[in-house]
Amino acid sequence: MRSDFPLFPEQASSVAMSVDTLYIFLVVLTGSVSILIWLAVFYFAIKYRRRPENELAEEIEPPKALEFAWIVIPTIIFIGIFVWGAFVFFRINRIPDNPLDVYATGRQWMWKFQHPTGQREINTLHVPLGRPVRITMASEDVIHSLWFPAFRVKMDVIPSRYRMLWFEATKTGRFHLFCAEYCGTLHSGMGGWVEVMEQTEYQKWLAGGTEGSMASQGEKIFQKYACNTCHTGDNTARGPVLNGLYGRTVMLASGPSVVADENYIRESILAPQAKIKAGFQPIMPTFQGQVTEEDLLKLLAYIRSLVPPKPTTLSVESPASMGQSSGARGNQP
Ligand code: CUA
Repeated sequence: MRSDFPLFPEQASSVAMSVDTLYIFLVVLTGSVSILIWLAVFYFAIKYRRRPENELAEEIEPPKALEFAWIVIPTIIFIGIFVWGAFVFFRINRIPDNPLDVYATGRQWMWKFQHPTGQREINTLHVPLGRPVRITMASEDVIHSLWFPAFRVKMDVIPSRYRMLWFEATKTGRFHLFCAEYCGTLHSGMGGWVEVMEQTEYQKWLAGGTEGSMASQGEKIFQKYACNTCHTGDNTARGPVLNGLYGRTVMLASGPSVVADENYIRESILAPQAKIKAGFQPIMPTFQGQVTEEDLLKLLAYIRSLVPPKPTTLSVESPASMGQSSGARGNQP
C-alpha cells in the first residue's frame, strides 16, 4: 500500500501484508455483494412495479439448482474466510522463539518502555530491524491498549496481569504508536513513536544505558525485599528454587499443575497463597501494594534470566545479552 494513501499506514512488519490482504479481500467481497444486492433491489423494483390496479402477482417456483447454489457457494466462501482468518490470527499470536524482550508499562497518560539492558524511555520505543520483539505489558491504573498501526498489531494492557505482544519490523524509520483504549482525559495524547533501527545502530543505542540490565536491577529488588532469605536457591530452603523456574511446569500442593509463566510469577509475588508449590508451606507474605509495576517487571526479568544451575558451575549471572531469558525454558534436570 502506498504511504501517501492516507487510509492505510505503511506496512512495516512481517505480518502487515497478510493482515492487509485479508482485510482488502473482505472489503472487496462484502462491498461488491452489497452493490449487487442494491442493483438487484432497484432493478426488480422497477421491473415488477405494479401497473394495472387489479394485476395479480404470479407465483414463481425457483429451480432447485439455484437454491442449492445460494446455500453452498456462500458456505464455502465463509468457511474459507474463517480458515484464512485463523491462519492470520495464529501467525500474529504465536510468539517466535528467542525474541528480544522489551517491557512496557502503561499509565495515565504515558507509555514507559524498558529494554533488557536497562535503557528506559517514555513514549518512544527503539527496536531493531528484522528481529522478533516481544513486549511484556503491564498497566499501573486502568485498561490501555498498545497499538502499532504500521505493524498491524494491537493489544489491550490490563491492570493486574501481564499481556504479551510481538512484532518483527521490516522497515527502518519512525512509526506511530498509540493508546487505542479510552483511558481518561488525555487518552488522545497517550502516544508516541517507534523507531526502527538497523541492528548495529540499535546495539550502539542500547550501549548508552547506565542503570544496569533489567535482570540485574530485578536482582537488587529481589534482595531489597529480602526474597533471597527464603529463595536461597537451595533445595532445602523454605522457598522454592527459582533457577530454571520460568516456563516450567510446577506441581501444586492443591493437586493440579501450572506452567510458571509471566502471570503465575506475578501472582506468586502479589498473592503467594493462591498457588502453593507442592512440598512447601504457605508462609510467604504478600507484596501487593509494595512493589510498583515497573519493579515487578524487573523482578520478572530477573526470574526469566535465572537459568537452571549447571552441574559444575552455579551460574546466576544476570544475562544482559538479549533473548537468553527464553533459554531457561523446560531444561531443568
Ligand atoms: Cu491509555 Cu487510552
